[in-house]
Amino acid sequence: MKSLEVLIFLGPPGSGKGTQAEILTAKLNFSHLSVGDLLRENIKNKTVLGKLAARYVSSGELVPDELIIDLMDSYIMNIKNQKEISGIILDGFPRTINQAIALENKIKQLDVNIKSVLNLDIPDQKILNRLSGRGREDDKPELIKNRLEVYRNQTEPLLEFYNDRSLLDSINGDQSEADVSSSIINAIKAEVA
Ligand code: AP5
Ligand code: MG
Repeated sequence: MKSLEVLIFLGPPGSGKGTQAEILTAKLNFSHLSVGDLLRENIKNKTVLGKLAARYVSSGELVPDELIIDLMDSYIMNIKNQKEISGIILDGFPRTINQAIALENKIKQLDVNIKSVLNLDIPDQKILNRLSGRGREDDKPELIKNRLEVYRNQTEPLLEFYNDRSLLDSINGDQSEADVSSSIINAIKAEVA
């Protein structure tokens, strides 16, 4: 099996994870896993996963780890079999220490390595401005507040987790989309056309 590189995009709601993942997957020939997009699609199509996840997503809480870990597992196995893909951007995974440990265990079994964990840093007020104009169902002000709180309590501890492993790169997310992309490319020293 071929070797795969993984980039992890961390950062609060609205920090630009999805936007940057779209830009960079195209530049790097990577595949993009947005756990949030996948969950919303499952909810829309009323799949078993969608039915289980709906109440968490609509309240801005995290979906239970075991469901998300299974999702990540099958996604990575599927990508491993696609010869043309050179890496994966994980956008919105992991979000808990348990998920991060599950990812570590998974990649130990495969020829995969985490190249970098990019933390998109942005002040809360900017987040509110960005998301209040978008109109996704979980973008109501009280839900944004809850998503931010969930982020601080459950996801932010990952910054230390990955810093301890010398994998963390902090990026100023409060710049134009193009400048954020350039900062990421510089941080990971990627060669792009
Ligand atoms: P998810 O869909 O991942 O939502 P989120 O983390 O809250 O983040 P967003 O998607 O809102 O923001 P983003 O950082 O992708 O920014 P974006 O590029 O869109 O998760 C949704 C839910 O799913 C969670 O609440 C949870 O319930 C569940 N879930 C997901 N993952 C899970 C997990 N691992 N475990 C358990 N549960 C999970 O940009 C935001 C806006 O800003 C856009 O309008 C964009 O156009 C604009 N923008 C982007 N960049 C810039 C810029 N540089 N300048 C100006 N505007 C910009
Ligand atoms: Mg997103």
